[in-house]
Amino acid sequence: MTTNRSTTVLITGANKGLGAETARRLAALGWTVWLAARDESAAERAAATIRVAQPDADLRVVQLDVTSDESVAAAYAVVAASGTGLDVLVNNAGIATGPHDTLATVPADFLPVYGVNVLGPVRVTHAFLPLLTASPQARLVMVSSGLGTIAHVLDADRVESQVPGMVYQSSKSALDMIATQYAKALPAVRVSVVDPGWTATDLNAHSGPQTVTEGTDAIVAAASADEVPAHKFERADLELPVAAHS
Ligand SMILES: NC(=O)c1ccc[n+]([C@@H]2O[C@H](COP(=O)([O-])OP(=O)(O)OC[C@H]3O[C@@H](n4cnc5c(N)ncnc54)[C@H](OP(=O)(O)O)[C@@H]3O)[C@@H](O)[C@H]2O)c1
Repeated sequence: MTTNRSTTVLITGANKGLGAETARRLAALGWTVWLAARDESAAERAAATIRVAQPDADLRVVQLDVTSDESVAAAYAVVAASGTGLDVLVNNAGIATGPHDTLATVPADFLPVYGVNVLGPVRVTHAFLPLLTASPQARLVMVSSGLGTIAHVLDADRVESQVPGMVYQSSKSALDMIATQYAKALPAVRVSVVDPGWTATDLNAHSGPQTVTEGTDAIVAAASADEVPAHKFERADLELPVAAHS
């Protein structure tokens, strides 16, 4: 992908964690970066942090709660009116609440997680399709998880097999299929599903062994690399280093 100012990305959940680091790295490519967050002031703070090292970064902030039709529609209106266009949409916002005890899990446990992790990416993607499909270099990136990969959960050599729970895990399995169907329906859009890998963020009380830079290697590659591995991939599938490490 050409790395110039005409490339515009919107990242959901961009105020912290993997979303904020993705924003920082794509801004370093000279891209126009929309930091979307349900708390606009938190996104402003993330943008201010990025500007310390990148004072000329083209960072835009927009309020966007992925569980709200009204919020997503308003965010679309802001981006559309700005004239930046949209080349890359990164559905990154996610939560990992819910019980880890499978036998104690009841239907109501799924609702908040599915609302953010499953319905959120559909709501945002559907709303932004007019802008995204107008781009000649459109990309759609779904930030999934290895915990949603059934083969990994069944592989005793992988860490995913050691993490119990069916709420978060199944939400990411569903997201993988949703991305597959978007890829089939949108042949002109490069659709990627990425597994960031276990990364120290608020999502896991900073228990992950990876830094957020390592955790965003697959996301940044899906958004910007000329050659992108097929469908769902992780950092180990990439030829490192990925651009925009600094
Ligand atoms: N960290 C890992 O080990 C790991 C591994 C695999 C996959 N992932 C995935 O990576 C993505 C980013 O997670 P992270 O590790 O960076 O976690 P994080 O630091 O907790 O960040 C999650 C982001 O999602 C946002 N969010 C939550 N609910 C939202 C809503 N209704 N509308 C808009 N934004 C919302 C949060 O905003 P607030 O600050 O407002 O809550 C925050 O910006 C998630 O999809 C997660 O499932 C993470």
